[in-house]
Amino acid sequence: MKIAAWQFIVHVMEITGKVIVVTGGANGIGRALCHAFTAAGARAVVVSDIDEPGAKRVAAGIKGVAMPANVAKEADVKALVEKTTAQFGQVDIFCSNAGVGAAGGAEATDADWQRSWDVNVMAHVYAARAVLPQMLARKEGYLVQTVSAAGLLTHPGSAPYAVTKHAAMAFAEWLSIAYREQGVRISALCPQGVKTEMLRQSEAQSGPFLMEGALEPEQVAADVLAAIREEKFLILPHPEVARFMQNKASDYERWLRGMRKIRAGLGLTSGTWDSSASPVPPPRSS
Ligand SMILES: NC(=O)c1ccc[n+]([C@@H]2O[C@H](COP(=O)([O-])OP(=O)(O)OC[C@H]3O[C@@H](n4cnc5c(N)ncnc54)[C@H](O)[C@@H]3O)[C@@H](O)[C@H]2O)c1
Repeated sequence: MKIAAWQFIVHVMEITGKVIVVTGGANGIGRALCHAFTAAGARAVVVSDIDEPGAKRVAAGIKGVAMPANVAKEADVKALVEKTTAQFGQVDIFCSNAGVGAAGGAEATDADWQRSWDVNVMAHVYAARAVLPQMLARKEGYLVQTVSAAGLLTHPGSAPYAVTKHAAMAFAEWLSIAYREQGVRISALCPQGVKTEMLRQSEAQSGPFLMEGALEPEQVAADVLAAIREEKFLILPHPEVARFMQNKASDYERWLRGMRKIRAGLGLTSGTWDSSASPVPPPRSS
């Protein structure tokens, strides 16, 4: 079997001296990442977010640079990479972290499905398009995609979230397969509950099931930095997610039964057709 030369070279990616962009950096996990990268000696941390005042606040606290961007717009993501490169010479690590939630099942509005697709999936595609050329030219670079355990398992209260996070995971895997041999490293961050605004909103819509065991964003950020240094593709701040994945793979039917019980226990009504409002007949209950 032919083994490529790169497989023998173990490069430890150091954070010190690196130029790092974090999207969704104004709050939650992104904000914690910005602080952790700064503490680890990054040369520049670019705090990017659609929330401009929030990005400025975080940047001011870490002597970083705020660059507002709506990651759902390719032009914004391209400009973010171009401006960072013009100011600091290159982008070493791009954390594509911004994400959105939306409650409901098939009946969720087209606007919610589209927003989830644009922010949770296409933003990663735009980021890859924008940074890969320079990373491939240098044969070095790191893309960190914030996905979710929902991208490996599911989210019982949100079909748009579960579906788009699965797509994001598929894209991260694909990037790793396609580009690692050319020097570009990829990690996918897949936490369960993290104590952020997103989780508080999810709790209001889908119940408190993710609050139990929820981690602080700082802890998740520390796991991300450790994974970058070790070059670990799959970042599981909740290690039990690996077991849940094994359960799913080894007995899909049992896993589905378990998830149905969780959903029933949450008393969720999303995903239930209001047949009076829909021309589509309601699904037969199983
Ligand atoms: N909190 C959790 O329990 C949890 C669990 C698994 C995965 N995640 C993922 O972690 C990532 C960060 O979420 P968080 O929990 O820190 O939530 P958060 O709501 O605290 O932060 C999300 C940030 O993304 C920004 N954002 C939203 N849409 C944007 C857009 N179009 N362009 C640019 N920025 C945008 C928001 O302004 C906000 O600052 C998301 O991808 C989320 O799906 C969160």
